[in-house]
Amino acid sequence: MSQHIDLAVIGGTGVYKLATLDDVETRHVETPYGAPSGPVRVGTVLGKRVAFLARHGEGHSLPPHKVNYRANLAALKQLGATRVLALNTVGGITEAYGPRALACPDQVIDYTWGRISTLCEEGGDVLHVDFGDPYTPMLRHKILAAARVTGVTVVDGGCYGATQGPRLETKAEIARMKRDGCDLVGMTGMPETGLARELGLDYACLAIVANWAAGCGTGEEITMAEVLANVEAASAGMAELVGELARG
Ligand code: HPA
Repeated sequence: MSQHIDLAVIGGTGVYKLATLDDVETRHVETPYGAPSGPVRVGTVLGKRVAFLARHGEGHSLPPHKVNYRANLAALKQLGATRVLALNTVGGITEAYGPRALACPDQVIDYTWGRISTLCEEGGDVLHVDFGDPYTPMLRHKILAAARVTGVTVVDGGCYGATQGPRLETKAEIARMKRDGCDLVGMTGMPETGLARELGLDYACLAIVANWAAGCGTGEEITMAEVLANVEAASAGMAELVGELARG
């Protein structure tokens, strides 16, 4: 049975639960696209109903190319969500996006391949959804307003380049992405963002910069320990933003 959900949150690498979620109920949801990455935790944050789903599974068992993006979004929609905040752990390419920064990108370039990237199936309706502004502008504005209210610094805008992974990129790949205009690099932004539009969900991304992308910034080797430590350091600000966003 679906009830109103004020905000659905999809957690990325290093974000496997919402510590601020109270009165948690666990929902195992089946969708026409199969099962989502794991149970959806539904509860309240500051009195508002919030649903949380760990994109890679709560034990991080699903690599980016194996995530069932369609089922994840469909499950949240079936539970009654109309707005989705996607938390994406990323590498920073350009200067404003250093480790531990939070950013709310406004553009996407898709470099992924071989992923199911649409709801359109043979024999069904063919949708050519408008995707000029891939993130819902009103939800982006609300994230930025929440940043002002809470005093959490969020970089406004930027282009998210979605790569295939699970390996990190070469320096040449990142240099090409920089020439293309990418500011951030991550492995899960697509097809999720496009599918959200096809499903008619309001959707925006709060990116957590975990490291400098290959060859950027200090140019040091990227380690998983660094990635997780930087996500952890940014998590208090992230939780504050989620609470404020759920309210408005
Ligand atoms: N590249 C791609 N995805 C990422 C990175 C990166 O450097 N850091 C965290 N997710």
